[in-house]
Amino acid sequence: MTMIKIDQYFDPAGWQKFTKAAEGRETPLLVVDLSRIKTKFHEMVGFFPNAKIHYAMKASPAVEVINLLADLGSNFDCASIYELERVLDCGVDASRISYGNTIKKAEHVKYAFDKGVDLYATDSAADLKNIAEHAPGSKIFVRILVQGSETAEWPLSRKFGCHPDMAIELLIQARALGLVPYGISFHVGSQQKDVAAWDDALAKVKYMFDWMKNEEGIKLQMINLGGGFPANYISEVNPIKVYAEEINRYLTDDYNAEDMPEIILEPGRSLVGGSGVLVSDVVLISRKSNTDLTRWVYTDVGLFQGLIETLGEAIKYPVYTPKMETSTSEGTVVLAGPTCDSTDIMYEEAGYQLPEELGIGDKIYWLTTGAYTNSYSSVEFNGFPPLEVTYID
Ligand SMILES: Cc1ncc(COP(=O)(O)O)c(C=O)c1O
Repeated sequence: MTMIKIDQYFDPAGWQKFTKAAEGRETPLLVVDLSRIKTKFHEMVGFFPNAKIHYAMKASPAVEVINLLADLGSNFDCASIYELERVLDCGVDASRISYGNTIKKAEHVKYAFDKGVDLYATDSAADLKNIAEHAPGSKIFVRILVQGSETAEWPLSRKFGCHPDMAIELLIQARALGLVPYGISFHVGSQQKDVAAWDDALAKVKYMFDWMKNEEGIKLQMINLGGGFPANYISEVNPIKVYAEEINRYLTDDYNAEDMPEIILEPGRSLVGGSGVLVSDVVLISRKSNTDLTRWVYTDVGLFQGLIETLGEAIKYPVYTPKMETSTSEGTVVLAGPTCDSTDIMYEEAGYQLPEELGIGDKIYWLTTGAYTNSYSSVEFNGFPPLEVTYID
């Protein structure tokens, strides 16, 4: 894997903001530039003018991010009552919030309902019953299982969603239980590189919309297209514009303008990923034998300080060190974190290249680390404190 160029990711002024914010600060430190989230949000709204954006808070549940997106008019999807509490505390009205987790305790459904939330995801009869009991009359969307795990860098597997036949049964049951069978959702997998994954999923949804109308007289009103839109890591991805053009085309192929359902998007990674740079120091460089061709580079950040998505080397962050600008030779490295856990190796197989001149104490910058980092950071594994974050705009 060749070394990156910083100008592939930032213009000089944009990059300077990050380095300035980190100057003199202890590492590891995540620097988040809120202005980049603002730009991404406007971009998303511009490309999907008819969709409602429910920011997937799990990507970064920070108050600074919520306040920004709330001011920009975003809605929110929460995964727990704790995220719900956070977003309500930021002054967001419950009418702008969906409860997107299909796994929830009865008392948490009650809590959300008491706070005014009336839009719930489900994918099972037991959860549906819970919702009927504790959030009576609410709007239900059923999550279906879809393809896409082979082309997503962070697949969401089979944990969520159900077969469309079961989803139809749940929607029918929802009506019988006094709930509103409102729509269908899916998630094609996070960092989904194949736009056609939405095409396959929407074909299933269309079939279900028609079935429900023709066989049950139920007119579903909403499609939730989930997240999955990419951030800019190492491997090339299509711009959001291409995703939007394709998805909007799939939708207009399937529905007339007057029948177009409400469209919800739940982006997480694509909105906030590019806003973060994780600044770390090199703690140790070593080799495992006198003839070892590979250097082991240990940084003060690892899987337990926010880089958990490097598990299985799934998400490949762009890694930058200023010595790349002047380096005359580079070599393959293993990149590992600081803890005494052998899982704490970010990249062993990927073949990351770093300058031979790299030394202990040098800075390593992990780009595109604004999503799924700070919230994943452990509390005190090996005694290391949770990841420090600073916000700039
Ligand atoms: C229900 C739901 N919606 C949205 C998202 C956000 O997905 P992404 O970060 O790929 O945009 C997730 C991610 O796990 C999710 O579980």
